[in-house]
Amino acid sequence: MLNNAYDKLISKVSLINDMMVEIYFAPTIADSPVLPTIFRAHADLMEAGWANYGHLTNNRSKAVYAVLDQKIVGFMTYDFQDDIWKTCWVYLSFVDPNFRQNGIFKVLHKHLEDQAQKNGSRKICSLVHTDNQPMIASGISVGRYPNYLRTEKKL
Ligand SMILES: CC(C)(COP(=O)(O)OP(=O)(O)OC[C@H]1O[C@@H](n2cnc3c(N)ncnc32)[C@H](O)[C@@H]1OP(=O)(O)O)[C@@H](O)C(=O)NCCC(=O)NCCS
Repeated sequence: MLNNAYDKLISKVSLINDMMVEIYFAPTIADSPVLPTIFRAHADLMEAGWANYGHLTNNRSKAVYAVLDQKIVGFMTYDFQDDIWKTCWVYLSFVDPNFRQNGIFKVLHKHLEDQAQKNGSRKICSLVHTDNQPMIASGISVGRYPNYLRTEKKL
């Protein structure tokens, strides 16, 4: 079953090529049907070398996700931090490779921003590998610009 009693349908959006996606909000990823997709996407990203090996989320992390023809085709999973900005920290954004560059990231980001504003957040942040050009371009397209660069020396 794709939906559960807790996740809320927040929007239906028509994409550029007439694809109609449903956008859901999961108040916790535990017990949400989005969780297996998050695990798979995170595993793929670690194996691609674009994420460190380690847990990103916890059971109480939140998500917005996109459903097309009963299938989850994208998500953003995030939490709110306890700082003066009430930073909305995005752990991972993902769109199914078969549906990329159709605007699904941008639609999800709009709904992420709505949720962040409802929470009183004044900043959205995320980490991205410096080789991950699709994510860097996607971030810039919604106004999220690179500002820090992490330096590393392997010992
Ligand atoms: C990054 C990702 C989520 C983008 O999703 P998407 O649905 O394809 O993005 P959109 O179609 O909404 O595109 C958003 C913007 O980024 C640009 N963009 C997206 N992918 C791009 C690519 N491969 N090359 C260049 N630009 C790209 C689009 O042109 C668009 O910009 P525009 O509106 O100014 O034209 C997707 O590529 C993905 O899932 N990547 C693998 C997972 C990942 O790396 N996640 C990030 C971990 S930090």
